[in-house]
Amino acid sequence: MGGDQDKAKRMLAESACENLKAKMTLGLGAGSTVMRVVDALKDRQHDSMQVVVASIATQKYCLDCGIEADLMESVSHIDLYIDGADEVDESFCLIKGRGGAMTGEKLCAQMAKNFMVLVDDSKCVTRLGQRWPVVSIEVVPWARSSVARKIVKMGGRPELREQKSDMKNDIIDCYRMNLSEPYSLSKEINQLTGVVGHGLFVDEKPQVVKVSDGRRVWELGKATE
Ligand code: 5RP
Repeated sequence: MGGDQDKAKRMLAESACENLKAKMTLGLGAGSTVMRVVDALKDRQHDSMQVVVASIATQKYCLDCGIEADLMESVSHIDLYIDGADEVDESFCLIKGRGGAMTGEKLCAQMAKNFMVLVDDSKCVTRLGQRWPVVSIEVVPWARSSVARKIVKMGGRPELREQKSDMKNDIIDCYRMNLSEPYSLSKEINQLTGVVGHGLFVDEKPQVVKVSDGRRVWELGKATE
């Protein structure tokens, strides 16, 4: 996709910014699509708007762009939360976490009144795992071996990331997981001792998914598709 993908991200960012309102608390996730939202925000920022972010990289990018942004830990409510995703299925379940920020992102999604996801059309799937079959799990460092062993028992292939999370935890990327029942898989992973968060978003679905192919933007599930 290349150039189209970049165009798609910019178009999505512009479209998302049409939903901004004065005095709102805006949450931003992580990843290259969110960075394009920050770019679009530069010119339109309402003075009275509060921006909170789910990752240190996004916070740094905001500050570099002259946008004041706090980490999401400073708020208990978000009016609009905008984020990217690695995959979206037809029921708005998501795979996230390629950037390793899924725990902060899930916290934001849970406290948001409105959650909006922006994806290029290559990320829309009929079944989770079709395109990005990886479940990233954040664990406290002491739990990395025991969680990895349990993932193997569940049929997965765990790989420890070199890079730690923003919260200084370990991240295990799990391949070959059975994603046919994402709700029960999410619950099973949550129950493992030492797990802090993971990239399957099934109880934290967005209300709106905006999709672009680099030529136009549409909403997933809407008749105009
Ligand atoms: C980071 C994420 C990102 O939202 C996801 O990886 C999509 O990133 P990009 O916009 O760069 O494609 O979940 O943890």
